[in-house]
Amino acid sequence: MIKVENVSFHYKNGNCILENLNLEIQEGEIVSIIGKNGTGKSTFLNLLAGMTKPSQGDIWMDEFNTKSKKNFLDIRKKVGIVFQNPDNQILFPRVYDDVEFALKNLGLENRESRIENALELVNMKDFKENDTYELSLGQKQRINIASILAIQPKYILLDEPTTMLDSSEKDNFYRVLKNLKQEGYTVIFVTNYVDEILLADKILVMEDKQIATIFQKGDILEKVDLLKKCGIQIPKLVQMLEFLKQNNINIQLKEWTQEELIQEIVRIWKSEKYC
Ligand SMILES: Nc1ncnc2c1ncn2[C@@H]1O[C@H](COP(=O)(O)OP(=O)(O)OP(=O)(O)O)[C@@H](O)[C@H]1O
Ligand SMILES: [Mg+2]
Repeated sequence: MIKVENVSFHYKNGNCILENLNLEIQEGEIVSIIGKNGTGKSTFLNLLAGMTKPSQGDIWMDEFNTKSKKNFLDIRKKVGIVFQNPDNQILFPRVYDDVEFALKNLGLENRESRIENALELVNMKDFKENDTYELSLGQKQRINIASILAIQPKYILLDEPTTMLDSSEKDNFYRVLKNLKQEGYTVIFVTNYVDEILLADKILVMEDKQIATIFQKGDILEKVDLLKKCGIQIPKLVQMLEFLKQNNINIQLKEWTQEELIQEIVRIWKSEKYC
């Protein structure tokens, strides 16, 4: 479990960036983080990864407090972070070497099978001998994700993983996210695309240095006003659900896709009530 207790953060210049954050994230949850620019989303992700330490309060990744120097290696094995720009995290000219790098650094065994499994999970197993500079941005992003998956961390943090991807590469990433969920990983990702918040089980909204709200996706209709207040647009699918609800048509979604919504509308349309 991830526990964030009374966490505040300021840089050396003294400006407070995050103020009194509290939350718990359970194992296997997928959490999306959204908020206007500069609300501290990346800073928060870096704190969770142990890259920076809280100025006040504590972050626990299971039994490990990120503040404690002696936990550094354990946290590196437990938590993987991928930054927004895929180019910044690629270090080697060959895919295999790039994925292997952190494994060597951390002294982990069974490198070959770890690399095979990780590349399989991101649908890049045919690329292990390829040159990294020949890859598209989306492929590089998936290699970056494979590099942390090979470590077999429990927690995966992704900062705006789709911002630089075209629509087909975005779809590839969504498939990777589904794979990660099926495999039981805990994934926390920051996004600036409102529709992507629905890929998560839980949605966290940042506003003015704080967590404005964190809620289960199924409760999003009750959060529409709060999202608007935080300057967040409402996902198209949620707008449609809201319109239907206002017309006394209540639809429960499982997959949260447009296809599922259309199927549900057709099902209700064909049901006795409307015949
Ligand atoms: N090294 C730094 N020193 C001082 N202030 C910083 C530093 N890095 C970031 N900040 C400030 O911290 C605040 C939060 O930045 P952060 O990058 O976490 O926001 P964000 O929500 O990820 O924004 P974006 O949506 O643009 O990615 C911003 O006001 C930023 O100017
Ligand atoms: Mg950011």
